[in-house]
This record gives sequence, structure tokens and C-alpha cells, in this order.
Amino acid sequence: MITAHGLTRRYTLPRENLFAPRRETVALAPTDIEIADGEAVGIIGESGSGKSTLIRLLLGLDQPSGGSVSFDGRTVDARASARSLHWLRRETGIVFQDPYASLDPRMTIERIVSEPLWALGIEGDHAARVREVLEDVGLEPEMADRYPHEFSGGQRQRIALARAIAHRPKVLIGDEPLSALDVTVRAQILGLLAELRRRDGLTLVMVSHDIGVVQSLCDTVAVMKDGEIVERGATDDVLRRPQHPYTRRLLAAIPTIG
Ligand SMILES: Nc1ncnc2c1ncn2[C@@H]1O[C@H](COP(=O)(O)OP(=O)(O)O)[C@@H](O)[C@H]1O
Ligand SMILES: [Mg+2]
Repeated sequence: MITAHGLTRRYTLPRENLFAPRRETVALAPTDIEIADGEAVGIIGESGSGKSTLIRLLLGLDQPSGGSVSFDGRTVDARASARSLHWLRRETGIVFQDPYASLDPRMTIERIVSEPLWALGIEGDHAARVREVLEDVGLEPEMADRYPHEFSGGQRQRIALARAIAHRPKVLIGDEPLSALDVTVRAQILGLLAELRRRDGLTLVMVSHDIGVVQSLCDTVAVMKDGEIVERGATDDVLRRPQHPYTRRLLAAIPTIG
């Protein structure tokens, strides 16, 4: 469903002084990845390894310095206007880490969750869809009339999830969607993600530094280090018999919800 070839992202850093040479950093070295329809892939790796860069490029939210991405055989052109990427937005939903920063405090839950519906020009009864999708994520439909500050972190992440799936995307992408939540809430949202995947056949791309999340949710995993995928395979294989020394160290060092 998603294919990337030689996908690369370099950043030019500011000069240290007028006479210093321009410096570059490689956030993503030329990378190939394929994600199949219905697959749940985990992306793990330490902070700064290029996980967010990779998913931003896959979603056309950032322009690659090289390489290409295609989605269902269609080229993702990040230089295209927002409007001409509507087809990609319709197919994808994204949840970020911070449930406090990601919801506009001035908007009701109804407006927040229906935003992708009107932004993408999706027809139908948006208010009804908002109530339906709030139920899907385990919230009361009446909550639609309230504001973000009235909710806990876990509830807000459910709201963010409702917004991400309101337009019925094929792919749900999470950039550390559980990292800011406490352990009990994390387990609940994890169960919810697994349930949505079972029910709707969602393709999942989950960035996480929590092995427990990847273990319970993902069929396959990609391990990133310094802008490269150093290991990719079935989750069980990678977690039980990691081939790359970095993966072994990572597995020994990172937390798990067990
Ligand atoms: N806008 C930017 N300007 C300069 N460097 C960046 C920028 N965004 C990311 N980077 C660098 O790219 C690398 C990968 O970052 P990122 O993809 O955010 O890693 P991760 O999500 O795995 O923590 C890091 O070294 C980071 O400092
Ligand atoms: Mg990141």
C-alpha cells in the first residue's frame, strides 16, 4: 500500500558564524520501505533516529531531499498544493503524542472531530458521524458539545483518535500516540487500537519507543538508528532474535508495559 524508494531527508543547519561552512544533517538516509494493506508496522528507535521524519515524508507532510513515496500506486508529491493531496488525507489519519497540544482549546469536541470531514469535503451528516465515532473510541456521544479542557489526557487522546478515524481512513499513523499517557490509560488505548484494527481492517503505522506497544499491536517492526532502518522483520523474529547489535541494545534498554 505504501512504498518508499531511496527516501532521504537532509537539513541545512544555520552557520555557526559568517565564515563557517554550511553544515548539513541527515535526518533520513536513503531508505526503502514497503507497508502492505492491513499490515500493522511498528517503528522503533531512540530519540533522533528519524522516526518522525520518516512518517512525515510518507504522509507528504514534508518534502524529501531525494527518493519517492507512493500510496496505492499513486505518487505522493509533497510539493503539490494542499488541495491536490486531499486524496492522501482521505486515506490516512494521524495521532500525535501530546493530547494537550493537539486539540484546539477554543473548539468544541464536535468541531474538532468533524474538522477532517469538512476539510476533505466529505458529504453526509457530520454531527451524526462525530457521535458515532466518539462511541467507537469509548466516549459518550454527548461529549461532542464540550471543550478539550474538560477532559483528562486519556480522554483527549481518545478524542484525537476519533478525529483521526472520523473520515474512515485506510491507514492510521501514530507518532508515539501513547507515550504521554500513564500506564493504565496506555493499555486501554492500546486495546482500542487493536479493536479498531480488527473491526475496520486498518493499516497501522505506529512509532513508539515502547516495545510492549509494538509487541501487542504490530505484525512487523522496523528498527531505526541514525536515520537508517537497521532491521526490519516480523515482530516476533525481531524481538526474539534481533540480528543487529543496536536492536539488542535497544531491547535491553527500553521500557515495556509487559
Ligand atoms: N526541522 C529540522 N531542522 C534540523 N534538524 C532536524 C529537523 N527535524 C528533525 N531534525 C533532525 O533529524 C533527526 C531525526 O529527527 P526525528 O525524525 O524527529 O527523530 P525521532 O522522531 O526518531 O526522534 C534528528 O537528528 C533531528 O535533530
Ligand atoms: Mg519523533
